Amino acid sequence: MSIGAAIIGAGFMGPAHLEALRRLNIDVRGILDITPEKSLEAAARMGLRQGYPDLEALLADDAVQAVHVTSPNRWHHGHVLACLAAGKHVLCEKPLSMNSTQSAELVAKAASTDRVCAVNYNMRFYPLCLEARERVRSGQIGLVHAIQGSYVQDWLLFPTDYNWRVLAEEGGSLRAVADIGTHWLDLVHSITGLEVAGVFAELTTVHKTRLRPTGEVETFKSKESGAPAATEPIAITTDDIGAILFRFRGGATGVLWVSQVTAGRKNRLTFEISGASNALFWDSESPNALWIGSRTAPNQVLVKDPSLLGDLARTSVGYPGGHDEGYPDSFKHSFKAFYAAVRGDAGGPYATFEDGHREVVLCEAIQRSAATGQWVSVA
Ligand SMILES: NC(=O)c1ccc[n+]([C@@H]2O[C@H](COP(=O)([O-])OP(=O)(O)OC[C@H]3O[C@@H](n4cnc5c(N)ncnc54)[C@H](O)[C@@H]3O)[C@@H](O)[C@H]2O)c1
Repeated sequence: MSIGAAIIGAGFMGPAHLEALRRLNIDVRGILDITPEKSLEAAARMGLRQGYPDLEALLADDAVQAVHVTSPNRWHHGHVLACLAAGKHVLCEKPLSMNSTQSAELVAKAASTDRVCAVNYNMRFYPLCLEARERVRSGQIGLVHAIQGSYVQDWLLFPTDYNWRVLAEEGGSLRAVADIGTHWLDLVHSITGLEVAGVFAELTTVHKTRLRPTGEVETFKSKESGAPAATEPIAITTDDIGAILFRFRGGATGVLWVSQVTAGRKNRLTFEISGASNALFWDSESPNALWIGSRTAPNQVLVKDPSLLGDLARTSVGYPGGHDEGYPDSFKHSFKAFYAAVRGDAGGPYATFEDGHREVVLCEAIQRSAATGQWVSVA
């Protein structure tokens, strides 16, 4: 069955989605950006048939069955609702919405349609993350008793670094934790199936004032062009750093360190999951290796090679061993799982709106804990 798709948002993520969709032979019919002119410019730049003048035009395109929402966070809720009302399948970027009221509404809407609704928590689809999932969930490392990890970047290190994400009204009142911490929360949940029972958090805003360029700056591009010529000071309330303790249901404990201001760490997610018999460690900047720790035998490093992986991880491998796969491949496999579900086939474990909602609820608990200095229970 041939499926047509469209993309909303032509910044960092729009082209990343397009590239993965092209690798999957999904027919991307067109793109919508913030103005008709920007939509047309993006369509020309990305080699697409149409730059839609507005959302109504996109939704009226009968050749489009699925919409990828890659607009900034504050638009997700409205864009997703409009797409579902028009009968489209939806794959929304993370975080699903600005708050849990919105995400709960989206979960309810999703449940009331037969459309496939997914959130692009793409980290799940690194082959060795799926391998970790299979091993942990089948009991190969024993009962999980501890999880530690981090997600660390440096692109907002300087007070001159600016992007819409630093503004609470654009990205949400949590930033580092919602923007990248939720990738870790989703990944750890995907691997272990463990639910968080309580959180204790400390959040830090290193730069309480940032210099906003009078023109917008693209994601991750702020330092390429150097300090912008004209800026205005702007007060910042969102977090640059988060330190979070977790109690998981069933007794496991955990800790997450999130930072967007750590020099030299470009985009590094790590997890270490300790079970009764083994531990697993993975680093997104070396994604083709999974460390397997043992007490009674030499430790091992499993390299991504389909002949050495379990059935689940093999579904996310596109190349033989020794041919590294990385970030763009995780998008391809996330979308492959989504479109399998759109076709009515058994898809891989893509993140659902329930998963997206869970991460938003956790963000709110983390924020409450940081504000009160207390443990906060998660219902
Ligand atoms: N899964 C991942 O690894 C990953 C990575 C980066 C960003 N993201 C998510 O993707 C989303 C977009 O982030 P980005 O980094 O691409 O941002 P960006 O600023 O680079 O791009 C956003 C684009 O959306 C356009 N836009 C703004 N308002 C719009 C509207 N109302 N309608 C249509 N287009 C509109 C902007 O003009 C811009 O072209 C965010 O939700 C972010 O959290 C996910």
